[in-house]
Amino acid sequence: MANSIFVLTGAGISAESGLGTFRDKDGQGIWARFDPMKLATPEAFARDPERVLAFYDLRRRNLLNAQPNAAHRALARLEQALFGRGGHLTLVTQNIDDLHERAGSRRLIHMHGELLKARCQRCGAVRLWPEDLSAADACADCGRAGGLRPHVVWFGETPMRMDDIDRALRNADLFVAIGTSGAVYPAAGFVAEARAYGLRTCELNLEAADNADLFDERRYGPASQTVPAWVDELLSA
Ligand code: APR
Repeated sequence: MANSIFVLTGAGISAESGLGTFRDKDGQGIWARFDPMKLATPEAFARDPERVLAFYDLRRRNLLNAQPNAAHRALARLEQALFGRGGHLTLVTQNIDDLHERAGSRRLIHMHGELLKARCQRCGAVRLWPEDLSAADACADCGRAGGLRPHVVWFGETPMRMDDIDRALRNADLFVAIGTSGAVYPAAGFVAEARAYGLRTCELNLEAADNADLFDERRYGPASQTVPAWVDELLSA
């Protein structure tokens, strides 16, 4: 059985918790309804901060009403079981929701940041911010207003903790991508790196991702079914 597992999750793992995905084939994805270039770039924020902040207020309120699903809970169970066997699970998520944490996952890397945190552009302080965020809000650390933004990674910005991610990938023996379309780099490139490092690779998704042919094993279906079944199989092996 794999002893060191690297899991990458995307919006698909939170779909059944009621949080939208970005590029679903049914054309209902977030980016089919909202223009990412007007809402998820530093330029958009500089041009119209209130419009960008209102978009994230909407997503933050949705998140506060959402609950983790069986897929999030299965990954937390896998992390605990592996730890108990001297192995470990590194969970890297592209998602900015906190459903993995609320399901009990601990070793977690949010490479695209966290919706429930705000960052001050003046002093760099990052704080939990579970309520609406307005340009008039003052930073609790430096006291100045007008500099707070969601602590998320926008298009054109550098994802977070890439060194930790590369180190975890090098030290794993199994790479698993769950609920991600493989459309956005650098995350979409992790499976190719994993193969180059000699890891086995597995995709758990609703439909084949753009990079599906790079996976040794592929299982399709809703994450709330495929992820618990996969974890049960892994732990009974
Ligand atoms: N169970 C499992 N997978 C699902 C489910 C489900 N119930 N519903 C949808 N999916 C799959 C879709 O088939 C698709 O492959 O989840 C994937 C969602 O893909 P995207 O919407 O592109 O989300 P993601 O891959 O996480 O996007 C990556 O793009 O816009 C940026 O920063 C944003 O982190 C995001 C990044």
